[in-house]
Amino acid sequence: MSVLVISIGGSILIPDFNVERIKQYAEVINTIARDNKVFVVVGGGWISREYITAARRLGAKEAICDLIGIEITHVNARLLISALGDNAYQEVALDFKEAMNASKGNNIVVLGGMFPGQTTDAIAALLAEYVNADLLINATSVDGVYTSDPKKDKNARMIHRMTPEELCEIVMKEVMSAGISSVLDPVAAKIIERSGIRTVVINGKDPENISKAARGEGVGTVISPD
Ligand code: UTP
Repeated sequence: MSVLVISIGGSILIPDFNVERIKQYAEVINTIARDNKVFVVVGGGWISREYITAARRLGAKEAICDLIGIEITHVNARLLISALGDNAYQEVALDFKEAMNASKGNNIVVLGGMFPGQTTDAIAALLAEYVNADLLINATSVDGVYTSDPKKDKNARMIHRMTPEELCEIVMKEVMSAGISSVLDPVAAKIIERSGIRTVVINGKDPENISKAARGEGVGTVISPD
């Protein structure tokens, strides 16, 4: 039985309130959890961005905006737990210790954000370290890691295999360019590098890609020290 951490952005899981879509992800996760321990970290997506923008315009401090974002990730996580049914721990695990304890009696544990100043990608990477995960799956809105942002650069080329050091180099280059957001949060990339966490970055818009990544089929970008 392998231990998997799956990071799903809110924009992937809940681009709207289409419950059929959420059910599809739940089905895929339930299938993976038949033979594996699965931790899922759910993001905030556009809903958190709307709340954060409104709070900022009302004068809220950035740390408060982050706390609002975290609360939205928890609400999104609750939607996923509802769709997963009894196979999942029925609460959103609030810290790594709770997640670890909950995983003893449940094959699926769902988390959201945790600390201000972070993103759910970083939380997923830290959790993967904490639970000694065999694989971290990062479900994004692009097919994998590109040489540069494919939404901005038509010459961008997708990389199928890379080392954590190469990932850090690309992520750092992207965050240094104004207006370009990187495929993976730099904090997450550094954690993947320091612990050599085997990671797959996939296009999560198709839930089937999550199954493929869990089965080790060639999809997305594989980041591995060897
Ligand atoms: P996300 O990690 O979901 O950010 O957290 P995102 O980049 O919008 O991701 P997608 O669209 O879901 O992929 C949403 C917001 O919640 C706060 C941050 O403000 C973040 O922008 N947050 C989240 C934290 O402060 N700490 C956390 O641990 C997680």
